[in-house]
Amino acid sequence: MNKETRLAVPVWYWVIAVVALLWNLMGCTAFAMEIFAQEEMMESWTEEQKEWARSIPGWIYIVYGLAVTTGVGGSIGLLMRKSWTVALYAVSFVSVIVQMVYTMIIAGGLKAMGPGAIVMPAFVVVLAPCYCGSRGSLKVGIGSDRAVQPRRNSEDHISGGLQNSTAPPGEVNMNYTAINLASRFEKFTDTWSPRIVAEMNDYQIKLVRLEGEFVWHSHEHTDETFIVLEGSLTIEFRDGCVQLQTGEMFVVPKDVEHRPVAETMCKIMIIEPRGVTNTGTADGSLTAPNDIWI
Ligand code: NI
Repeated sequence: MNKETRLAVPVWYWVIAVVALLWNLMGCTAFAMEIFAQEEMMESWTEEQKEWARSIPGWIYIVYGLAVTTGVGGSIGLLMRKSWTVALYAVSFVSVIVQMVYTMIIAGGLKAMGPGAIVMPAFVVVLAPCYCGSRGSLKVGIGSDRAVQPRRNSEDHISGGLQNSTAPPGEVNMNYTAINLASRFEKFTDTWSPRIVAEMNDYQIKLVRLEGEFVWHSHEHTDETFIVLEGSLTIEFRDGCVQLQTGEMFVVPKDVEHRPVAETMCKIMIIEPRGVTNTGTADGSLTAPNDIWI
């Protein structure tokens, strides 16, 4: 953890996020009015303006709808400090550009409605990158969301690392207690069922008890690190095997089929990205939940 993740979220960020949400909700309302109350809206319009409005094809309304919904979604993401915020704003931004170019220039809206008609969409075009910028400049932002979210943990406190139960939003309290692996192993007895004890960036550090033969499997997207803490482990491959004793480790490359075998109870640590399933590409009765913390 570096110092940046301990900074509180500044007030200006919340102000921008709330304004962004309100602004995008206004966009949604305008969209709903055009869809559901177009005729009423057009009552005071000139014939030329009505003709222009009726010439807009249906797909533009789909693009418009996409622009406003992703705009609201992005604003919610901004408030929640989620990394997908930028993706949603990007979709919203592109959709607004497409919609604006078509309705105002190709379909002649600028001529029919006057320059005032582009004020709102123009604002969106200018503001979307600003929101993304505020998201990016927030040091506790993308990539470190994890560091400021409460851990899923059965204990009141979490030893060794980040502790958030009393931390205000955006702040991380440190708990300077070591993670004791032996006592963590005492918390479970079942085999082939990984327990998470810590996370490092997007990687999880898991403890597992192994006994017997596992299933043949591979991991499509990631390598997998095995560290033997107690006992001995054989990792079989289709063309050979590696034998690991206490204090030894091995990295199984991604996509390589393997089968861990432990003749007697073996305690290991596994390091792999968040969300990896123990049986990889092979399903079966040994597939364990991959998000249990101890
Ligand atoms: Ni594996």
